[in-house]
Amino acid sequence: MRKFLIAGNWKMNGTIDETKTLLSGLLAGSYDDTKADMLVCPPYTSLETASNMLQDSKIAVGGQDMSVHQKGAYTAEISATMLLTVGASFVILGHSERRQYHAESDQLVNAKAKAAIDAILTPIICVGETLDQREAGQTEQIIGMQIDGTLEGFSADMIKKSVIAYEPVWAIGTGKTATPEMAQDVHKFIRERVAGIDKDAAESVQILYGGSVKPDNAKDLLSQPDIDGALVGGAALKADDFLKIINAV
Ligand code: 13P
Repeated sequence: MRKFLIAGNWKMNGTIDETKTLLSGLLAGSYDDTKADMLVCPPYTSLETASNMLQDSKIAVGGQDMSVHQKGAYTAEISATMLLTVGASFVILGHSERRQYHAESDQLVNAKAKAAIDAILTPIICVGETLDQREAGQTEQIIGMQIDGTLEGFSADMIKKSVIAYEPVWAIGTGKTATPEMAQDVHKFIRERVAGIDKDAAESVQILYGGSVKPDNAKDLLSQPDIDGALVGGAALKADDFLKIINAV
């Protein structure tokens, strides 16, 4: 049985003070941690504060990106080791905003994911089609390419150490959500694609849905057989909403 993972991608939100307020709200709430794990991914500058505040809780901390390099002359980059030293255990990779604004390719995401696994960080590898691609009937072709590219050279064991997130670009921050059936179809397609590498790994890998997940649509999305959690943007910035989402599993 796959456990649910409810992850909050705070994006570029959360000064130290805002981080403390939001996390105090999450710590004051409750959820069934036998069913679902909670993860928060604040900006780099708030990671240490978050790790310190959450050290006695079950809530995990993750980064939103990392460098493919280990160290050196890469201005403004953050390495896997640096994330580990501030208490991160996950890292989001290949988010569509990184692909769109920083021209990240499947090949780069693949190399970053390998570096994350080597460092014992769990990569959350993001894939998703644009509205034009969906309307042109290319969703499976695009997602298939992204899965093949980002998981290139992965062993079964590496897949088991990873999380995949399906985030249709047209559903991110737009208030438009994929219907549970649309999301389930793509999640099933992803799992079948991963099964082409290894069947066991495909059964065990968590596939999260992201794109305007809110308290009122979480239950329907999370009840789909191949949806194992959520990668939440806007609604992760409100403790009550994020708690409602994890309590919808
Ligand atoms: P929203 O939940 O704000 O649509 O963002 C989704 C997302 O991009 C999470 O990574």
